[in-house]
Amino acid sequence: MPRAVKYKIKDNEIPKVEDLFNPYNVGARPFLKWAGGKGQLLNKFQKLYPKQLKEKKIKTFYEPFLGSGAVFFDIAQHYNIESAYLYDINDELILTYRVIQKDVSKLLDFLYRYQKNYLKLDKKKRQDLFYDQRTNYNLQRFNIDYNKYSEQWFPRAAQLIFLNRTCFNGLYRVNSKGEFNSPAGDYDNPTICDEQNLLAVHKVLQMAEIKKADFKEIITDFKAKSFVYFDPPYRPISKTANFKAYNKQDFADSEQIKLAKLFKQLDKKGIQVMLSNSDPKNNDPDDNFFDEIYSDYNITRVSARRMINSNPTKRGAINEIVVTNYSIA
Ligand SMILES: C[S@@+](CC[C@H](N)C(=O)[O-])C[C@H]1O[C@@H](n2cnc3c(N)ncnc32)[C@H](O)[C@@H]1O
Repeated sequence: MPRAVKYKIKDNEIPKVEDLFNPYNVGARPFLKWAGGKGQLLNKFQKLYPKQLKEKKIKTFYEPFLGSGAVFFDIAQHYNIESAYLYDINDELILTYRVIQKDVSKLLDFLYRYQKNYLKLDKKKRQDLFYDQRTNYNLQRFNIDYNKYSEQWFPRAAQLIFLNRTCFNGLYRVNSKGEFNSPAGDYDNPTICDEQNLLAVHKVLQMAEIKKADFKEIITDFKAKSFVYFDPPYRPISKTANFKAYNKQDFADSEQIKLAKLFKQLDKKGIQVMLSNSDPKNNDPDDNFFDEIYSDYNITRVSARRMINSNPTKRGAINEIVVTNYSIA
């Protein structure tokens, strides 16, 4: 796929007829496949968003467990949001978002080269390239300054996207040492350089402040008349389905309880809050963990198809629990 045109990024343009063919007018969607991604739940979630958002009275959105940002992209493009605050504890993820926000053209150059080199290889050589890149990615993490935006970040972001697009199941997974450990995938024609989407993502991200943060650090930041969506790591639904591995840190029940306290604090400030998690009742009908810690709020269950399990026979319909501090219209 040759890159014939290098798009110039211009904000606040008045749409022209030719803009209909301009990639900026094509909706932005998540550029990474991410464990717990909410893309397939959006049509159910839309019914659960606050009335004020649908009435376009809410102008600020927060997503403190950003992941692939499916809910952010939905909300940013369908309602009247003017600013968004996007946080996640994962350094690599935040680095990649910030590169797309600031320097998408440079990122596209790297991705285009990955795509050209990878697609012309046979299966064995693709695997070799994947594992070389994976080793390099894991070694280089000690040399990256995640706190200081720099040119180092462009190849790093490209490498994350390359690995995500070409690994098995397309999922970001790290071991307890923080090493990316997904094996090579076997897709015939993976899109490594999705130029159109990345340009659209760049455009949407102009409204956002993006930073690495633990959810426990962000209480002071929240503005009035805003909407907060929390999508913390899942509470494992079974002993074997524990995919805490977006980061090397665990997300234990004690963290879920701290988050419930933050939920309450925001509620007291009059902020609209929505939280989702996998329903522990999927596995144990007597497990009332979330019903208890969110007993003061509205709890809805929506059915979800969980695609995270590497065993296809275990990917079935299960419930996602959604907690809101406002009633659902
Ligand atoms: C379920 S995923 C979010 C998925 C996202 N809604 C999507 O559509 O892709 C949970 C995210 O929380 C992040 N995370 C884990 N612990 C965190 C913490 N203590 N503070 C902030 N983010 C955290 C993980 O890095 C991960 O990206």
